[in-house]
Amino acid sequence: MRRKIVAGNWKMHGSRAENAALVETIVASVTSERTTCVICPPFIYLHETWRQLRGGAVALGAQDLCAEALGAHTGEVSAAMLKDVGCEYVLVGHSERRALYGEDSPLVARKFAAAHSKGLTPVLCLGEQLAEREAGRTHSIVGAQIDAVVQLCGIQSFAQAVVAYEPVWAIGTGRTATPDQAQETHAFIRQRLACEDAKIAAGLRILYGGSVKAGNARDIFVMPDVDGGLIGGASLKADEFIAIFAAADSLAVSG
Ligand code: PGA
Repeated sequence: MRRKIVAGNWKMHGSRAENAALVETIVASVTSERTTCVICPPFIYLHETWRQLRGGAVALGAQDLCAEALGAHTGEVSAAMLKDVGCEYVLVGHSERRALYGEDSPLVARKFAAAHSKGLTPVLCLGEQLAEREAGRTHSIVGAQIDAVVQLCGIQSFAQAVVAYEPVWAIGTGRTATPDQAQETHAFIRQRLACEDAKIAAGLRILYGGSVKAGNARDIFVMPDVDGGLIGGASLKADEFIAIFAAADSLAVSG
């Protein structure tokens, strides 16, 4: 059975003090190791967050990385640097990066490769816009986003990766995909990868993201192809995030 995972994406929020307080509360509450817990604070707080984690049950992730290994890339952060400050995970291709910073699928695939090359686990974010869903294009959009990574990095690279399906219309909008909508797209993603390698596809953890809250987490996480969540807004409230983690962890216990 796949181990569930709950990841918090704090985006560009919080002060140093707020960040430290949030980490402290999460570290004190998240002790189960049946379920993976990852927090992704802003770059600038990564190292001090790692110190607070003290090697416990919570893992550190970054929200982005540079596709290049090193050199003249002012303002960028490399995979090696993330590894050096204690990161184990890194988000790649979040819809805000794709929409606001012009990241296309070939660039996302290069970032995925860069993460891998340094032993980081990439969390590949995929998802369609509302108009694309309404036009019945969800599978073709999400399929093309996956294919770009498979083509560059190979199916084997998904043995050490996580995928996050995040319909763009559900991110930060309060409009969550229904459990059935999430399941349907997750099953599609798994099937697409199974055509390349059934074993890797069966073991791949696919997270749902988009307005997950304590109140809806269990209903979504219980779906057979949903292996946890990527949590934005609700991860900034310690009690919400801890409750979402507990929802995933309770399924690990009973499952
Ligand atoms: P949300 O964000 O939970 O606030 O919808 C999810 C994300 O952007 O990863």
